[in-house]
Amino acid sequence: MTQKIIVSGGAGYIGSHTAVALQNAGFEVVVFDNLSNSKSDSLDGVMRITGVRPLFEQIDCTDTNAMRDAFARHRDAVGVIHFAALKAVGESVEKPLMYYRNNLGGLINILDAMAEFNVNNIVFSSSATVYGVPEKLPATEETPLQPATSPYGSTKVMGENIIRDTVQAKPNMRAVLLRYFNPIGAHPSGEIGELPNGIPNNLMPYITQTAAGIREHLNVFGDDYDTPDGFCVRDYIDVNDLAAAHVAALRHMLGGAQGVNVFNLGTGRGTSVMELIRAFESATGVKVPYKIAPRRAGDVPAIWADATKAERVLGWRATTALTDTLASAWRWQQKVSEKN
Ligand code: NAD
Ligand code: UD1
Repeated sequence: MTQKIIVSGGAGYIGSHTAVALQNAGFEVVVFDNLSNSKSDSLDGVMRITGVRPLFEQIDCTDTNAMRDAFARHRDAVGVIHFAALKAVGESVEKPLMYYRNNLGGLINILDAMAEFNVNNIVFSSSATVYGVPEKLPATEETPLQPATSPYGSTKVMGENIIRDTVQAKPNMRAVLLRYFNPIGAHPSGEIGELPNGIPNNLMPYITQTAAGIREHLNVFGDDYDTPDGFCVRDYIDVNDLAAAHVAALRHMLGGAQGVNVFNLGTGRGTSVMELIRAFESATGVKVPYKIAPRRAGDVPAIWADATKAERVLGWRATTALTDTLASAWRWQQKVSEKN
């Protein structure tokens, strides 16, 4: 029998790619999303790729009654992947309560509804931001967590703790906490991808918008870090690889794994800002005009993942070549530019 998965935030960037991966793996997907940072067009994209449009409930996870009702309609679900959250670090500093209310209120409603309707498996979107400036690189799952540097980061640390306490209190429940490094790229078909609102904060959409001529130049934040080339280093992971990890995480729980398991999701490879710009240029043949700008407050000089636990336990690893990821990001940008 087909197993149904509730995907909160499934109309968004990572959620829509995960919906594709889930449907391709034979799961039935129901998306819960309030479309606060996405459009339902992404679900049409999922349909064009897989032949099936996920079921869709347009609801806000912070609406306790609406969530209860939606869970009642989908009480046959075997698990939840909880993506729904606000994710703009700067905005979270200005509007902390909005972030706590949305990201934690939504999570608490989901956990309540899961307990009520006996849906016992949850995958949670956490972030490498929980490691702050790591003492040692690469970061493993045992690397000590640092105090969060933004309310957004706090919601991830607190979200992890809320889930741990809940699983501790409810032995039927199981959880996988996935700490994403830097997700980039789009589906190779060009049907779905990242749709940032306004001026992007993140590097990859800023690069593609600059290449497309929407932005005059890219500001490279800092060239004097204590790193091999002086630029910040991150672990850029293909969004399709990331999506595949969610399927592996669900299977791990459905296969009987107990308690709470944590996994880093990265490539295990650090790439500097300048290396990423150069790699983009050689993958696409398009120049990215840039200027060196001051360091951005709060930036971690370097972080990349030790992702060997995910390989050992989940049998998952990132396989997409960076060139292919960058080409897919560009293909998506061109498609978005054509439409607008
Ligand atoms: P996204 O904004 O594209 O997707 C989030 C989706 O959740 C959107 O469709 C939005 O409309 C929906 N949503 C937000 N609040 C909601 C609510 N209260 N009720 C219902 N729907 C709601 O973001 P994304 O990049 O796909 O991120 C998905 C998850 O991964 C988030 O939890 C994010 O914090 C986490 N994450 C993302 C990154 C990244 O770089 N993209 C890195 C680490 C962690
Ligand atoms: C940021 C968030 C992190 C969040 C993640 C995904 C901060 C401090 N961290 O990670 O919590 O989980 O986004 O939303 O905001 N860069 C430029 N020019 C730009 C944009 C970025 O040089 O215009 C550089 C940054 O200095 C950084 C790298 O590119 O070195 C990656 O930046 P970004 O894509 O914003 O991701 P993170 O800062 O790693």
